[in-house]
Amino acid sequence: MIDLKALEEDLREEVSKASSLSQLAQIKAKYLGKNGYITQAIANIKNIPQEERKEYGAKVNKLKEYAENLIRQREEEIRKIELQEKLSKEWLDLSIPLEPAYGTYHPITQTLNRIKEIFISMGFSVMEGPEVELEEYNFDMLNIPKEHPARDMQDTFYVNKEGYLLRTHTSPVQIRTMLSHKPPIYIIAPGKVYRRDDDPTHSPMFHQVEGLVVDKDISFGHMKYTIEVFLREFFEVNVPVRFRASYFPFTEPSAEVDIGCVICNGEGCRVCKQSGWLEVMGCGMVHPAVFESCGIDTEIYSGFAFGMGVERLAMLYFGIDNIKLFFENNIRFLREF
Ligand code: PHE
Repeated sequence: MIDLKALEEDLREEVSKASSLSQLAQIKAKYLGKNGYITQAIANIKNIPQEERKEYGAKVNKLKEYAENLIRQREEEIRKIELQEKLSKEWLDLSIPLEPAYGTYHPITQTLNRIKEIFISMGFSVMEGPEVELEEYNFDMLNIPKEHPARDMQDTFYVNKEGYLLRTHTSPVQIRTMLSHKPPIYIIAPGKVYRRDDDPTHSPMFHQVEGLVVDKDISFGHMKYTIEVFLREFFEVNVPVRFRASYFPFTEPSAEVDIGCVICNGEGCRVCKQSGWLEVMGCGMVHPAVFESCGIDTEIYSGFAFGMGVERLAMLYFGIDNIKLFFENNIRFLREF
């Protein structure tokens, strides 16, 4: 006869020591499985002498019930312990603040805004004009004659309406301003312009800010000072600025403006092509022919104009070497700003 008391004690001890569900499953098999001790004890009932069979049978069945309950209880305990361990290991800190992904201004918009702020602080107003422009305002009235190379199909996008084009610069806004406002005029004209150009530093659409001053006794010195102040404010350093004689049909005299290379501090690098200087804008005294086409008396008034490419300034300011990055909408690039 199997010693049920000893069996119960062994079972109790083993179950209390079990620390994982797999261990417990093994114990369960050992006692209650097909060839388990308790299963065998039950099978053995029929071999028990008649007079003891009833009492023994009842005890075995009780033991079976007891074993099942004991194992189930321990199983629940182990599950709880395992859950606690899991929770303490794999916890999630729900108190970490989840920042919403805020957008930012596009680097070109940021650059445009900075340029505008600097000129507004110097007393300039902001004027805008259409991107589909009259050929007359974009060229003729700016003293760019019909044969001028800037009019060549190479450079200009024409639209299929006679006399119209996509403006190649924002200078026509200066014409519009002079036609509609009497001097004194102190304006800048920011906006999109279009040219048939496409390489790492040129894009068929880009942004310009042009400026125009018309007043009594305006000299080249005023222009020089205005541009120098602007460039030093924009680059946030006291950059060297030089004016190089140049040519534009709508200004006379004309100049191109260079700054000491902000990348290498004038030492010579790839960006300034070893020259130590970077060309950043064009400028000049407004040509009398332009004033005349707008009905401004050149005996009384004089003025200056300047024009700069916003992408170029942004590339130098942020240290970016390919203009295309501004227009690809690559979120990883845009998140840098
Ligand atoms: N309009 C010229 C350009 O687009 C820039 C410029 C403006 C130069 C005013 C001189 C004076 O290249």
